[in-house]
Amino acid sequence: MKKVVLAYSGGLDTSCAIKWLTDRDYKVIAFIADIGQNEDFQMIKQRALKTGASKIYVLNLQKEFVQDYVFPALKAGAIYENKYLLATALSRPLIAKHLVEIAQKENATAVAHGCTGKGNDQVRFETTVSILNPKLEQIAPLRIWEFKTREQEIEYALRQKIPVDVTKKSPYSIDKNLYGRSIECGVLEDPWTEPPEEIYQMTKSPQAAPQKPEQIEISFVKGLPAKLNGKSLTPVAMIQTLNAIGGRHGIGRVDAVENRLVGIKSREIYENPAGTMLHLAHQELEYLVLDRETLHFKHVLAYKYAEIVYYGLWETPMKKQLDALISQTQEELTGTIRLKLYKGNCTVTGRKSPFSRYKIELATYGDKDVFNQQLAEGFNRLWSLPYQR
Ligand code: ARG
Repeated sequence: MKKVVLAYSGGLDTSCAIKWLTDRDYKVIAFIADIGQNEDFQMIKQRALKTGASKIYVLNLQKEFVQDYVFPALKAGAIYENKYLLATALSRPLIAKHLVEIAQKENATAVAHGCTGKGNDQVRFETTVSILNPKLEQIAPLRIWEFKTREQEIEYALRQKIPVDVTKKSPYSIDKNLYGRSIECGVLEDPWTEPPEEIYQMTKSPQAAPQKPEQIEISFVKGLPAKLNGKSLTPVAMIQTLNAIGGRHGIGRVDAVENRLVGIKSREIYENPAGTMLHLAHQELEYLVLDRETLHFKHVLAYKYAEIVYYGLWETPMKKQLDALISQTQEELTGTIRLKLYKGNCTVTGRKSPFSRYKIELATYGDKDVFNQQLAEGFNRLWSLPYQR
């Protein structure tokens, strides 16, 4: 019997996939990645076993997710199409990497996932797996099985006695992890429709948020968040705590129409309280510390890095080279940013760093000014020289 490792979520699709693969003579090993989606893993584990999985792996990957995936993207300033903080996209290469590792450990010849043929995630999984181990067979049951509609799939689940809670089915497709939530489908497919309040889980609506603003201070060391309000936090605790604070103030809701890899535009809603505040604070520290050319060029790199993550090209030479360059730019990115949170808004109200390039004696218009204005005349003449005839 051939062995396959399936990335298992516990939902209808991947549960049917277990049965479907078993019926095609595969021995199915279910892999459940805990990346902070806050599910009942014990229950999901039981469900996989009852559905026919021969073995289950539940791995807590939260720390690895934040340290090795979320933080590099934060240092890069990577935000796809200036809107999407990439919470889902960043999790895929991590899950794929562990799929491959488990497959190798278990002598499995195949891996499988529960993505459809229309999305980005299939590309990210399969690209990463192919780069890490091109010999593995890759199966995407949803792309090839006989069910055309969700109803047919539910019918199959009922017939096969697959223990899924179909009554709890939401009209939305939701992906969730420690770093954020992505919500699509249902009424959201009409880009003119305002997202109903019920879709949000991590964030309060700005209207319901506190009437009083809250100030927080995020301290960075070499480009990474290390302290919140003066208190050291682990990477995972940093994200969790900022999610709670920002969520309370309605921060981090994004309504996007984005360009998918497979050529279609799609509408997605995102919730990213921690990420929104961290990106803003990190960027602000760069404004204070980085020299002009590095800062401007980093914006170009950020755009490129976001594309690489979105396109599933995590395990590529380009990504590693960008990481090296970006890390070099973060050597002096140590300092503190003060943010004010108020009704969905997050604004910078203060910044400081031992490596600040802001020099008050040059910037001031007061009597401490040391800027030599006589030099400006020559500067201005030479600046226009290349364009004079
Ligand atoms: N559009 C996002 C991406 O491509 C999220 C995909 C998953 N979204 C979902 N609602 N299931 O990364």
